[in-house]
This record gives sequence, structure tokens and C-alpha cells, in this order.
Amino acid sequence: MNPLGFMLFACISVTSATILQNGQVRSNDYPDTAVATILPSDPGWVSYNPNASELSYKGRWDHQYISWWSAPGLKFGFQAQSIAISFGNYTSDGVLLAYRIDGQDWLLTNVTANSTHLFVTPKTAGYNLTQPSNGVQTFEMRVTNWAYGVQVKCVHASGPAARLVHIPNYPRTMELIGDSLSAGQYATLEGISSYSWGLMYGLGNVEFSITAYPGICLHDSRCYGNLHGQTFQWLKIPDTSSRALDIYGDGPDIPDWDFAAHPAADITVINIGTNDNNTANNITQAQYHDSYVQLINDIHARWPASQIIVISLWSGFSQVGNTWVQGGGFVDIIESVVRSFNNGSLNERGGEGFVHYFNTTGILEHNDIGPLYHPTDVGHIKLASHLMQYIKLTFGWILEQTGPEVQHDTLYWNDQSSY
Ligand SMILES: *[C@@H]1O[C@H](CO)[C@@H](O)[C@H](O)[C@H]1NC(C)=O
Ligand SMILES: *[C@@H]1O[C@H](CO)[C@@H](O)[C@H](O)[C@H]1NC(C)=O
Ligand SMILES: *[C@@H]1O[C@H](CO)[C@@H](O)[C@H](O)[C@H]1NC(C)=O
Ligand SMILES: *[C@@H]1O[C@H](CO)[C@@H](O)[C@H](O)[C@H]1NC(C)=O
Ligand SMILES: *[C@@H]1O[C@H](CO)[C@@H](O)[C@H](O)[C@H]1NC(C)=O
Ligand SMILES: *[C@@H]1O[C@H](CO)[C@@H](O)[C@H](O)[C@H]1NC(C)=O
Ligand SMILES: *[C@@H]1O[C@H](CO)[C@@H](O)[C@H](O)[C@H]1NC(C)=O
Ligand SMILES: *[C@@H]1O[C@H](CO)[C@@H](O)[C@H](O)[C@H]1NC(C)=O
Ligand SMILES: *[C@@H]1O[C@H](CO)[C@@H](O)[C@H](O)[C@H]1NC(C)=O
Repeated sequence: MNPLGFMLFACISVTSATILQNGQVRSNDYPDTAVATILPSDPGWVSYNPNASELSYKGRWDHQYISWWSAPGLKFGFQAQSIAISFGNYTSDGVLLAYRIDGQDWLLTNVTANSTHLFVTPKTAGYNLTQPSNGVQTFEMRVTNWAYGVQVKCVHASGPAARLVHIPNYPRTMELIGDSLSAGQYATLEGISSYSWGLMYGLGNVEFSITAYPGICLHDSRCYGNLHGQTFQWLKIPDTSSRALDIYGDGPDIPDWDFAAHPAADITVINIGTNDNNTANNITQAQYHDSYVQLINDIHARWPASQIIVISLWSGFSQVGNTWVQGGGFVDIIESVVRSFNNGSLNERGGEGFVHYFNTTGILEHNDIGPLYHPTDVGHIKLASHLMQYIKLTFGWILEQTGPEVQHDTLYWNDQSSY
């Protein structure tokens, strides 16, 4: 029995919601960066098409340069006085973007369909701090709302000899496959507050993709409004959102992700099944087991060298007597799936096959889960930290992010020296 009754809904509208943070209304009054339309012919501006080789897209984007899944991004170098981006009409209204120059703290702004936004001017934090030796600064932008996306129509640069510069990919690549828990649902800044982000951005020098969507099951079945499970959807470019349905429908037009055209993930992390493990979705234990084996085989077929980490489901906490205990979903099944790839071992420390078990028991405590059944920002950070250490100990990866902000809006401190 699952006493916790999770409802990991997919269809909650985020724009109109008032978000309470410790009982206070959270301010979401971000600086407005919208400007008048910039045309490629406007003097003083150089415009780049979305297919320009100077632009690097992070996560999954389609051939119309529409972003999908959680925390997709755009990155490029520039030598210019100003940088503006025009967004196409497939951009969600009011979608919240995080952006920054180089290793400055993240800045936030809402953008909207069919608009142009001025992201960088000489007044932007960090603009004057570039080392004079090469003069190239890096611009990075991330979509924070898992339900929403942008369509990049044009990138504009202004100033004498303004130009964009291609920034090479980092050498390491990771993938995280999941549901709302991994997409960052109900976290302060959604995608960029998730443990997935904290883990993969936090490791540093990692290109990554968060193929996670709220409410989705592993088994290919309708769950909380998602028409497909991850055994189907992970092979596709778009997620299971209604905006994907509007553009691609539910049929043969859903485009496949071109695995050959993108670097293979060195490490793939999977945290899926909390929605399968709910009576609302009617997935049997056998279906879940077989789908898990299928997903692992599908990943391995495309990325034969990828090390796969299977995260056990914590499922929340329940009160037992006068204390709390962690739950768990499909505990025996997940264990047996992992053992089946490792001659009976859970392979938690490496040395066996390519599938590894990550035991979440003991990482979160009951108050690391918010009232809406998802980790709090602190819960996300705890998970990310433990996974980072696991990856360091198991695969010898070095923690290479050594200073720039990863999680935004988490700085609170005590300023009283005595009580
Ligand atoms: C980019 O797209 C334009 C048309 O929109 C096309 O003319 C151009 O050749 C494309 N460039 C590259 C690098 O594919
Ligand atoms: C908006 O998208 C439609 C496709 O639905 C396209 O035909 C139209 O040209 C686009 N309009 C603008 C202004 O981008
Ligand atoms: C900006 O984004 C936040 C977070 O999604 C949202 O709460 C807010 O309503 C948005 N504001 C505007 C003006 O769209
Ligand atoms: C986009 O903006 C153009 C020019 O302002 C306008 O003609 C067009 O109708 C707009 N399209 C949408 C979908 O809002
Ligand atoms: C950078 O320098 C210019 C010129 O002195 C100044 O106008 C601008 O405010 C500076 N930007 C920042 C972020 O301090
Ligand atoms: C969830 O998983 C537990 C095992 O951890 C099992 O006992 C329970 O029947 C499962 N519930 C559903 C609805 O799949
Ligand atoms: C649940 O699954 C069983 C077996 O697959 C099926 O017979 C039944 O109709 C399903 N019930 C619902 C409510 O979908
Ligand atoms: C399982 O055991 C067989 C026989 O000893 C060995 O060849 C194989 O490499 C092992 N597989 C894994 C994943 O450890
Ligand atoms: C996970 O960790 C808990 C706590 O240490 C332990 O009781 C449990 O047996 C572990 N699960 C597996 C599958 O090893």
C-alpha cells in the first residue's frame, strides 16, 4: 500500500499562481527586458539566425529552435556592447529565464511570444570585468519553467565590430531522466532549483540534459494527463506538455531525438517510477519491471559507454508512532532490475556492470519534503550534494565548479552575532 497518496500533477498552471514562501507572498517582479523589435537591417546591429554555428543549444531543442523539457539553455560568446534576443511566437507567455555573463550570479526576466529582449548592455553585471586578453564574454540563458519554453528567432549584437563566438562544449556529458521530482516542480525556481540542476551544473564542465516531466510514468501509459511514459518519450525531442501536443499532436509527427548528432552521456541518472507506483495510474509491478529493463537497454544501445545510475524512490515520509519513516516505491523491483545487470550485485561502488544503484534512504528527512510532496529547495540541494559525492567516489569525477553560483535565491543568513 502507498499511504502517501502522491499527486504529481502535470497540468498545474504556473503563471497565475501566487507562490507562498514560508507564508509570505514570494516576489516575482523581475526586471522587464523587453525592447522594440530589432530588424536584421537595423543599423548598429548584427543579427544571427537561430541556426548560426556560433550558438550552442543545451538540452533538447527542435528544428524550429523551440526548447523542451527542464532547464534547456542557449550559450554563446560575444564581443559586443549589447546583446538582444528575439523570440518566436512559440514562446510561452511570461516564461521565466535565468541568464548571465560568464560566472556572474543569475539574473531573471520574463519573456513572451513574439518579442525582443535586451539581455546585455555595458550596465549588466560583469560586463566590465572581462579579461582584456581576448575580450570574449560568455552569455548563457536557461528556461526555468519546466512547463514552458522559448523559440529563438534571432540573436542580435551591437557595437563596433560586434560579433558572436562559438563556445566549445565541455568534455563531460550527463543525462537525467525523471518526472516532477527531477524537473523541479514546486521548487523556488523550478528547473534551476532542482537536484538535477544542482547535480549536473554543480559538477561543472558538464553538458547535460534534464529529460524530466511532471506526472510522467516510466511505463508507456497515460499518467496524470501525460499521454506517454518515458520508454516512449525519452526517445523523442519534445516532452509531454500540451504545447508539444499543440505543435506535434500525438502520432507519427512527434520527432525523434537524433542521438547520433549529439554527444553520448558519460553518465545517465534515472529517477522514475513514483507516478507508476500510484494507484491512480494502474501500472502493474511487471509492467514497471519490464519497462525499466527496456529503458536501460535503450540507453545502452544508443550510448554503449554510458554509466547508468538508478535512483531508489523515496516516495515521501509518513508518521509512524511518534516519529517519521521514509517510504519507498517498487523497492524490490528496482533492486532486482539493477541486480539483473550485475550478476546479482547492486554495484553501488562500481566494479561490476554499467548499471549502479543509488540508495536514497537516509538522505532526506521528512521536513525536506514540501507540503506538495516534492523536495524543498534544501531537499534538492541535499540530493544533489550526495549524488555529486557518489559520482566522485564511484567514477573518479572531479568537482570542477569551484565558485560561480549554481542555485539562485538560496542565500539567507543570520546577521545577529549574539542572542
Ligand atoms: C540557416 O538558415 C537560413 C535560412 O533561414 C539558411 O539560409 C542558412 O543557410 C542556414 N545556415 C546554416 C549554417 O545552416
Ligand atoms: C507564428 O507561427 C506561425 C505558425 O503557426 C507562422 O506561420 C507565423 O509566421 C509565425 N508568426 C511570426 C510573427 O513569427
Ligand atoms: C514571471 O515568471 C514567474 C515565475 O514563473 C511568474 O510567477 C510571474 O508571474 C511571471 N511574470 C510575468 C510578468 O509574466
Ligand atoms: C507578432 O508580431 C508581429 C509584429 O508586431 C505581428 O504582426 C504578429 O501578429 C505577431 N504574432 C503573434 C502570434 O502575436
Ligand atoms: C561599465 O563601465 C561603463 C563605462 O564606464 C559604465 O557606464 C557602466 O555602468 C559600467 N557597468 C557596470 C556594470 O558597472
Ligand atoms: C508501490 O511500491 C510498493 C513497494 O515498495 C508496493 O508495495 C506497492 O504495491 C506499490 N503500489 C503501487 C500502486 O504500485
Ligand atoms: C487497470 O489495468 C487492468 C490490467 O491492465 C485493466 O484491466 C483495467 O481496466 C485498468 N483500469 C483502469 C481504471 O484503467
Ligand atoms: C557476470 O559474470 C560473467 C561470468 O563470470 C562475466 O563474464 C560477466 O562479465 C559478468 N557481468 C557483469 C556485469 O559483471
Ligand atoms: C538502502 O539503505 C537503507 C538504509 O541504510 C537500508 O536499510 C536498505 O537495505 C538499503 N537498500 C538496499 C536495496 O540496499
